[in-house]
Amino acid sequence: MAAVEIRDVRKAFGATPVIHGVSIDIQDGEFVILVGPSGCGKSTLLRMIAGLENITGGEIRIGDRVVNNVPPKERDIAMVFQNYALYPHMTVAENMGFSLKLRRAPKAEIQERVNRAAQILGLTQLLDRYPRQLSGGQRQRVAMGRAIVRDPQVFLFDEPLSNLDAKLRVAMRTEIKELHQRLKTTTVYVTHDQIEAMTMADKIVVMHDGIVEQMGAPLELYDRPDNLFVAGFIGSPAMNFIKGRIEGQGFVSDGGVTLPLARAPQGATGRRAIYGIRPEHFRLSGDGVPVQVVVVEPTGSETQVFVEAGGQEITCVFRERVTAKPGETIRIAPEPALVHLFDEQTGRRLTA
Ligand SMILES: Nc1ncnc2c1ncn2[C@@H]1O[C@H](COP(=O)(O)OP(=O)(O)OP(=O)(O)O)[C@@H](O)[C@H]1O
Ligand SMILES: [Mg+2]
Repeated sequence: MAAVEIRDVRKAFGATPVIHGVSIDIQDGEFVILVGPSGCGKSTLLRMIAGLENITGGEIRIGDRVVNNVPPKERDIAMVFQNYALYPHMTVAENMGFSLKLRRAPKAEIQERVNRAAQILGLTQLLDRYPRQLSGGQRQRVAMGRAIVRDPQVFLFDEPLSNLDAKLRVAMRTEIKELHQRLKTTTVYVTHDQIEAMTMADKIVVMHDGIVEQMGAPLELYDRPDNLFVAGFIGSPAMNFIKGRIEGQGFVSDGGVTLPLARAPQGATGRRAIYGIRPEHFRLSGDGVPVQVVVVEPTGSETQVFVEAGGQEITCVFRERVTAKPGETIRIAPEPALVHLFDEQTGRRLTA
């Protein structure tokens, strides 16, 4: 196992810069997830760690070694890709042992390592099958098995679950997390799925257009997003953003709706801002703000209610059941302590 240190790393394809100076410290044994919208540079950064892309600027260290010019096979990493690309003419056991065979490891050692990985992954009964005889989830596990047998310093995953159906994805998420708790191998995992990031990571790195917007523990990002981008990206359904201005101890939306603040920033009256409130941070309350119901979506465990107030659409999630019909008025109260304020120009969090 090893720590990974990414120092002011840049990448340009020809004249086009795509990574603009990214620094991330990954502790030994940590599970770090790079998350962000399509094209933000997640795979490129991962491929630079793996050595599959050269580094335009900055430095990457694995353990105490600068690896900028170290070829992939000497970096002691194992990568699992989205299309896990198993060899179709090899059995599960042969697929898993192939990299060791290439390295001319002794047969007995290969067998032992393959058996151990198979046991960890619940593949022992499937070792003699061919990839075509496996389900998608089983194939994904074989791909992980190939990485595990190499016992690398670092695992790199690039969207390994995106080919699986929703239910299997959830199951595999738990399996990968459990696997990491058992093996404690330093892991860098790329996804564009913020739920995957929230549920699996020790640390999330939110990327956007080739920069890091924020990094931290999942709940730190959820509780205290640094800016509008992170606030809107982490959490599902997404945080509501309401434009308006700070007035005394409250907030008045552009549509004229008054909303509570726990404490307004000093001397901020009249200042324009964006009021951020997560759907799950509203309560139904007799003295709340009157809003008009647009759509009610019960999921069983909770109810999503889309409402309108002062020309603004707001999404609410309630644990209790809501019987109101579209067109009716309900009263909702934001939890003032859980409100976020952002600067309208820069999108940065305003610390109240
Ligand atoms: N070989 C290449 N040549 C030129 N541009 C590239 C190359 N590979 C990637 N890019 C560009 O670099 C940027 C980052 O791409 P990257 O594949 O890292 O994004 P990503 O965050 O992994 O996106 P996705 O979620 O869609 O996989 C994109 O704008 C992409 O078009
Ligand atoms: Mg990618």
